[in-house]
Amino acid sequence: MIALVTGGAHGIGAALVRRLVGRGDDVVVADIDPDGEGGSLFVRTDVRSYEDNERLVAAAVERFGHLDVAVFNAGAAGPRSFSVSGYRDAMRVNLDAVVYGLAACSGVLSGSALVMASIAGLTGSPDVYYGTAKHAQIGLVRSISQTAPGYRINALCPGLVDTRALAAYRSELVAAGLALASPDEVAAAAETVLGDRRTGQVWSVQAGRPVELVPRIRD
Ligand SMILES: NC(=O)c1ccc[n+]([C@@H]2O[C@H](COP(=O)([O-])OP(=O)(O)OC[C@H]3O[C@@H](n4cnc5c(N)ncnc54)[C@H](O)[C@@H]3O)[C@@H](O)[C@H]2O)c1
Repeated sequence: MIALVTGGAHGIGAALVRRLVGRGDDVVVADIDPDGEGGSLFVRTDVRSYEDNERLVAAAVERFGHLDVAVFNAGAAGPRSFSVSGYRDAMRVNLDAVVYGLAACSGVLSGSALVMASIAGLTGSPDVYYGTAKHAQIGLVRSISQTAPGYRINALCPGLVDTRALAAYRSELVAAGLALASPDEVAAAAETVLGDRRTGQVWSVQAGRPVELVPRIRD
């Protein structure tokens, strides 16, 4: 299969790239950090830019012809700036990026898309605009799935994951007795969701627990 992973240079994305490469996929890795050479093709990409997303998908198509899998994983929490610029920063990297990535993939992706959301997208967060953007990712997934886009699309909500994104709070979290999932646990959950036949679903994964479907209110 041909897979695209954004934010594939570090953390959860890098663990997922290793997992997909390990099962024999050709993986296109997109990241703003050039240190993302684990896949078959690396395309330096700022996911906040629509033009970069277009260039990324064009490079994938030129090399492989199509995409079976796309994982919109790049994202960032904080800084917890309760300001207009803090709001725009959170929206650009966490929400614009997924909207632009999906738009660029339209007509090219035919299998399964996954958006790496967060438990913060279900519970809210003191990192206000991060929590807001993660809720919006879930709304985007549920809404796009109702338009017959030509691929399945689901959201995965990890709890705390032991990546550099948490480095500043890690000792505090561990001292408080909170369990951190490993990036590979989340990558395994992502692989499960990518292979599931359902669409428009929201899943959660927490340290030491299997991936679970988040119940949905039916209208
Ligand atoms: N770590 C956690 O506790 C946790 C929990 C829930 C959800 N998440 C989500 O998982 C995803 C991955 O987070 P992580 O913990 O692996 O973080 P990370 O910082 O380890 O990795 C994020 C990756 O995204 C890349 N990236 C950041 N901004 C980018 C940009 N503008 N363009 C392209 N690439 C960019 C980084 O270079 C990095 O490779 C994020 O969407 C995050 O919100 C993380």
